[in-house]
Amino acid sequence: MKIFTIKKNLQQHLQQIKASDKTIGFVPTMGALHQGHLSLIEQAQQNNDEIVCSIFVNPSQFNDPKDLEKYPRTIEADTKLLEQAKCDVLFNPPVNEIYDDNEQWHLNIGEMESLLEGKSRPGHYQGVTQVVYKLFNIVQPDTAFFGQKDYQQFLIISKMVEALKLPVKLVMCPIMRETDGLAMSSRNVHLSADDRQHALVLSRTLNWVKNNFDSAHIPQLKKEAELNVRNEPGVELDYFEIADGNTLHPADQNTKNIIALVAAKVGKTRLIDNVLLVHRP
Ligand code: PAJ
Repeated sequence: MKIFTIKKNLQQHLQQIKASDKTIGFVPTMGALHQGHLSLIEQAQQNNDEIVCSIFVNPSQFNDPKDLEKYPRTIEADTKLLEQAKCDVLFNPPVNEIYDDNEQWHLNIGEMESLLEGKSRPGHYQGVTQVVYKLFNIVQPDTAFFGQKDYQQFLIISKMVEALKLPVKLVMCPIMRETDGLAMSSRNVHLSADDRQHALVLSRTLNWVKNNFDSAHIPQLKKEAELNVRNEPGVELDYFEIADGNTLHPADQNTKNIIALVAAKVGKTRLIDNVLLVHRP
């Protein structure tokens, strides 16, 4: 695996790849890699010739400086995992390779910026779109792979690609889970043994909603799901929403694509998860 920290060197390498008519698949990450990230690499390998993974803990998407500070950084283990996964290129730039001092960025993302994750983490999606835009410009991938785990992030990046007419295809990959149902996340390392058990209420409740979806009304399901999460010790519910999968507005029974999304603090760690309920073409 080739490792680059300087964008110019990465670009030189990728120019050679493109000159030989090979396609580039891109998996942007913030590191602390787990099987969820590796599933994106695998998916990318099935669709593209050269796979680039970036590891960059992006300061501009953290609205809480403490969260940024304690974000897990495990570059040595990550490098090994990527080698084992036969990833071709790792791009692991320092902050000053991506950002100049006092850079400004604003993208009109519409109302989705103030819904759900956007509401709870002001400025988060400006930071995400800022860095993904920069990374797309540097890597110029044919296809980029993102997880359904961050469903709202995928919708917003899709909106950006459309609005700015970026020449990249986006693919959304399924959520990888531990055997007990917990969605894999880099933040799971912060969970204590007790938190880890309490955190299962999220996937359990999502599954319950999925299994009961056909026989109950959405407002009732939402109410019971909220109650269920709130009743779990050590868990502080942020939101449980049954939403339109395109707009993230509350869904009704006629909505074409419906998704249930949850965010909660478990101990000191904020977790998110979701499950698709209805997909009508
Ligand atoms: P990060 O949280 O490291 O996630 C990188 C990618 O892995 C995202 O597309 C995310 O949805 C996906 N992912 C995370 N957990 C997953 C799981 N359990 N199953 C499947 N995919 C999973 O998301 C980011 O980084 C950043 O916001 C980034 C896009 C890199 C911009 O900084």
